[in-house]
Amino acid sequence: MYSEARLFIEALKLTPTELTRNPGLGEIYSGEIGHLKVIVSINPFNQRFQVAGVGTNYSTLCAMALCNEVKPDLLINAGTGGGFKSGNTSIGDTFISQGAVYYHDRRIPLPAFEDFGRGGYPTVRALVLPDILNAKTGIFSTGNSLDLSEADKSELERNNADVKDMESAAFAEVADSNGVPFLAIRTITDFVDSGRSTPEQFTSNFNHATGKLRTALMTLVSYLAEETRLIGDL
Ligand code: ADE
Repeated sequence: MYSEARLFIEALKLTPTELTRNPGLGEIYSGEIGHLKVIVSINPFNQRFQVAGVGTNYSTLCAMALCNEVKPDLLINAGTGGGFKSGNTSIGDTFISQGAVYYHDRRIPLPAFEDFGRGGYPTVRALVLPDILNAKTGIFSTGNSLDLSEADKSELERNNADVKDMESAAFAEVADSNGVPFLAIRTITDFVDSGRSTPEQFTSNFNHATGKLRTALMTLVSYLAEETRLIGDL
């Protein structure tokens, strides 16, 4: 969502940019910081409902356009996420993806499709970034709902998820099929297991979490721009 990216876009003074072959696909902002080219893509706005295109559908479109047109050295999906109180997480904590990214609402109980439904797409092994960004690492799991059904809950447990979001697995899936290294970064706005309403927590903690996200992303950009970094430096 633009509201999640706004502070970062403003702080880096990124400017609106058009990608030629996919006009209108989503808002793109870009800029150069040292020798680093930063491109921020916001999922397309849904004109019919006049809201940000959250969830996996628009994420897939967005990731595909980025992989086709930009061919990034590293694709990062950043935003907010739900965390687990029982996992010693605090609101505003930043998480970096670790291992694979899963889906918790793509249940296809047919032998050939079960693993495909669940996913498990690779992320870059980030050994240095957790310290640099003062971030935790964890397993991310994606679904198209902000709240939590019983079925999603048991899949999240099965995935050993530390972070629940609505986009990262879609980006990871497209990145994987294009051979692009992928990383997800999320700050926690709400606890999935607190018993309090998710929308209420999300709304009241949103500014705090996006402030923290901006700090983490700015630190990441400074680190990447400092000198030529390879994926192994992450
Ligand atoms: N983004 C922020 N909080 C979330 C949650 N609980 N589930 C999915 N996406 C989120």
